[in-house]
Amino acid sequence: MPVDIDKLTSYYAEGGHGVALSDIDLKRVPRHVSIIMDGNGRWATARGLDRSKGHVAGVDALREAVTTSVRLGVEVFSVYAFSTENWRRPKREVDLLMHLFATTLVNELPLFHQENVRLLFFGDLTRLPERTRKVFQRGLDETADHTGMVFALAVNYGSRAEIARAARELAEEVAAGALSPDEIDEDALSSRLYTAGLPDPDLLIRTSGEMRLSNYLLWQLAYTEFYVTNTLWPDFSRWDYLKAIASYQARSRRFGGVVSR
Ligand code: IPE
Ligand code: IPE
Ligand code: MG
Repeated sequence: MPVDIDKLTSYYAEGGHGVALSDIDLKRVPRHVSIIMDGNGRWATARGLDRSKGHVAGVDALREAVTTSVRLGVEVFSVYAFSTENWRRPKREVDLLMHLFATTLVNELPLFHQENVRLLFFGDLTRLPERTRKVFQRGLDETADHTGMVFALAVNYGSRAEIARAARELAEEVAAGALSPDEIDEDALSSRLYTAGLPDPDLLIRTSGEMRLSNYLLWQLAYTEFYVTNTLWPDFSRWDYLKAIASYQARSRRFGGVVSR
């Protein structure tokens, strides 16, 4: 995506964060960055606050990460917001999160219009409360013809459920005689995932120090570079994002082959 150098330079004008814009190569910014936003609860608990306050603070971090992604010219920015397993949390917390998703989306629509961002969702939205579902649909409709960055929110997302659903779809097509079993290859399966048509993530960031995938994009992360930071999600800033990109750019990606540089 084209980068507005002046905007980007002023966005990163401040020093003293242990990283600077000059530490990264703007020509090698990852096309798809994905984040497992974790640590909201711990952030709040450490301050003697209710976990819900951590989720509210997490929204500010997400807005900044969306803006940073746009400024850096990332093509696809995706985030894990609610897993199929997160329904196990206390009803009060789940209700708050569903409410927060809807409210945030309405509030951020002007930003998506201004930045030409196209919204997508990964996950089964049918189980969400009606208001949340309606607001999500409105977001999809209103941004459908935007041509800038794709911003994907994974909500009620589980990778195993996603793969099972894709397999079921393929089976139904075979049963209906529309597809032959030998046509089932990696592309056929990929094209039935929520991420159909998108490049796989180049960089996966997880905050709060946890070294696990928690059922996120198991298929799509096959060759993704991982970056785990101890920073809790509400504290994740544009500088932390830059550090992750600098780390990504210092790696040599091989995809099973030999080093190419
Ligand atoms: C991530 O923060 C947000 C969601 C899963 C919705 P957590 O709520 O998991 O925070 P911790 O991991 O308990 O600190
Ligand atoms: C992963 O975080 C899911 C999201 C960030 C939405 P969790 O906090 O739910 O993951 P676990 O339970 O620690 O693995
Ligand atoms: Mg967590």
